[in-house]
Amino acid sequence: MKKECFSELIDHGHGKYTLFGRVLADTPGSAAAQEFQDLKKPATPLVLQSQGSFTVGVEGYRNVTLQPGTTKEVSVRDVGFNQLVAVAVTDTAPVARRQVVTQEACNSCHGSIALHGTFRQNVQYCVMCHNANWDDRARRPADKLPVESIHMKTMIHKIHTGEELESDFTIYGFGTPPPAINFNEVTYPGDRRNCEKCHIADTQQLPLPKGVLPSVAPRDYINPMPPTTAAICIITSALWSFNKASVASCCLRS
Ligand code: HEC
Ligand code: HEC
Ligand code: HEC
Repeated sequence: MKKECFSELIDHGHGKYTLFGRVLADTPGSAAAQEFQDLKKPATPLVLQSQGSFTVGVEGYRNVTLQPGTTKEVSVRDVGFNQLVAVAVTDTAPVARRQVVTQEACNSCHGSIALHGTFRQNVQYCVMCHNANWDDRARRPADKLPVESIHMKTMIHKIHTGEELESDFTIYGFGTPPPAINFNEVTYPGDRRNCEKCHIADTQQLPLPKGVLPSVAPRDYINPMPPTTAAICIITSALWSFNKASVASCCLRS
């Protein structure tokens, strides 16, 4: 059955918004759509079938014209650093996702890391999309299957292994047609055995925290779960666009 994403964003002005969102396996005008309307009643959980906490992340920018009316006129993006807010669904208080790496660690080499048109900068925000079940299926050509995992740990470990990789690591990215972005020639300016160059002390140690989902990586030597049975934690709602900002929400155990 086709999945419809019902969502609504109410702008209260002054940067305050109320977001109602839910993915339903049904069509508009149905009983399920009515259920979405009921969601907007006070004290109804954000997503009825979900447990624990959610995190809502915001991305946004505005275009600013510098030196307008002169020959040096230029349009630049004024980007806001992604803000994240944990929201309780069934938890008594919101529980933020665990933190594994720090912004400062990444920026010790990257200066100011900014991906996807510069408006995704917070490395705690990346994991909301770059979760255990997600991959490049939206961009990968049908004759280049299977998909490649974009799980944050798989992707970042592989990117920085670069020329030492023993298999191809290519992600089809944004663009028309989607470009094949290959990372097999990255040279890492450090020693990858120094885990704490990126990690908060001991977060690289096994066992993994309880409840962490296995990466779905059909191109890897070890792939614990076929994608069809693993869709427990895909992005629960796509992006809601409003003005020049958008909001993404996703479950936490990625
Ligand atoms: C020791 C230095 C170093 C550290 C620490 C580091 N990186 Fe990198 N990273 C590089 C180099 C070098 C490249 C390849 C050149 C490039 O694309 O900038 C790279 C590439 C990348 C890319 C691909 C860039 C692109 O344009 O496609 C991403 C994404 C990335 N790093 C994210 C991270 C994140 C997230 C962290 C922290 C968890 C991190 N890096 C920590 C050195 C580092
Ligand atoms: C709102 C969802 C979303 C967020 C947030 C996000 N990404 Fe992505 N990213 C994707 C998707 C989806 C792909 C796979 C290609 C596709 O489907 O367009 C991707 C691909 C990539 C790629 C490989 C292709 C390319 O364009 O270079 C890199 C590197 C990357 N992301 C890094 C990051 C980093 C680092 C962050 C956080 C600073 C981040 N992404 C935040 C959704 C997201
Ligand atoms: C270039 C940066 C970088 C280096 C160096 C690095 N990691 Fe990671 N690692 C990451 C990122 C990014 C994640 C995903 C973070 C997240 O999910 O919030 C991750 C996640 C992990 C996880 C999963 C943790 C969890 O709670 O889900 C393990 C285990 C891990 N790394 C092991 C290692 C080990 C072992 C080393 C050293 C031999 C290492 N990493 C070096 C960037 C790095």
